[in-house]
Amino acid sequence: MIKKATFVISNTDYKKCPAPVMPEFAFIGRSNVGKSSLVNMLTNNKNLAKTSGKPGKTQLINHFLINDNWYLVDLPGYGFAKVSKSIQSTWEKMISDYLIHRENLVAVCVLIDSRLDPQKIDLEFITWCGEQEIPFVLIFTKSDKQGKTKTGANVRKFLDACFEIFGDEPQYYVTSAQTGDGKEPFLEFIADEVKEYYDSQK
Ligand code: GTP
Ligand code: MG
Repeated sequence: MIKKATFVISNTDYKKCPAPVMPEFAFIGRSNVGKSSLVNMLTNNKNLAKTSGKPGKTQLINHFLINDNWYLVDLPGYGFAKVSKSIQSTWEKMISDYLIHRENLVAVCVLIDSRLDPQKIDLEFITWCGEQEIPFVLIFTKSDKQGKTKTGANVRKFLDACFEIFGDEPQYYVTSAQTGDGKEPFLEFIADEVKEYYDSQK
């Protein structure tokens, strides 16, 4: 259960992020996939993270403190064609530095649009996470946009593509920021990981 959620700080530099003394979960994925909307759905606060119908809304590393116990991080999206190459590479460097160096990062939550067939850019990103040994889970978003069968088929295709890459299927959750679908299982995952993090520090 999320009882308290507060915005802490926005950064371009991982070195200026809050002291890495609590477990942290970061949301990443293509622009417009629903990262900021998911932050709001999980925290029951429509206005906590800024969302937009236009891709490219989130441009910084945004830290939210949850239950005074762990951090949720809303990141800018990747693969936003309309920004210039130089802005794109600045974002990429900011995000990859953060992901590689952030020592309290427990898992990267890679958001995938459940309406689509596997997208090359998402597969490339998780391949990179694998190479960097950055743990990740998949969050399929916008499950309200189509029937369960279609969502299930797209999830299956993505997991098959993961199996091709890793010889294994990642952990995954199916969610909707609109209906709240998938909230409990995902928060349970986080609660377990948070407990494990603090247990391992004892
Ligand atoms: P950037 O910050 O630009 O990278 O985008 P983002 O991934 O944070 O996406 P954002 O949360 O701003 O949502 C983009 C659009 O998708 C908005 O119009 C949201 O209302 C819509 N959206 C997000 N999640 C859902 C969902 O689960 N269901 C539906 N129907 N719409 C959603
Ligand atoms: Mg956003």
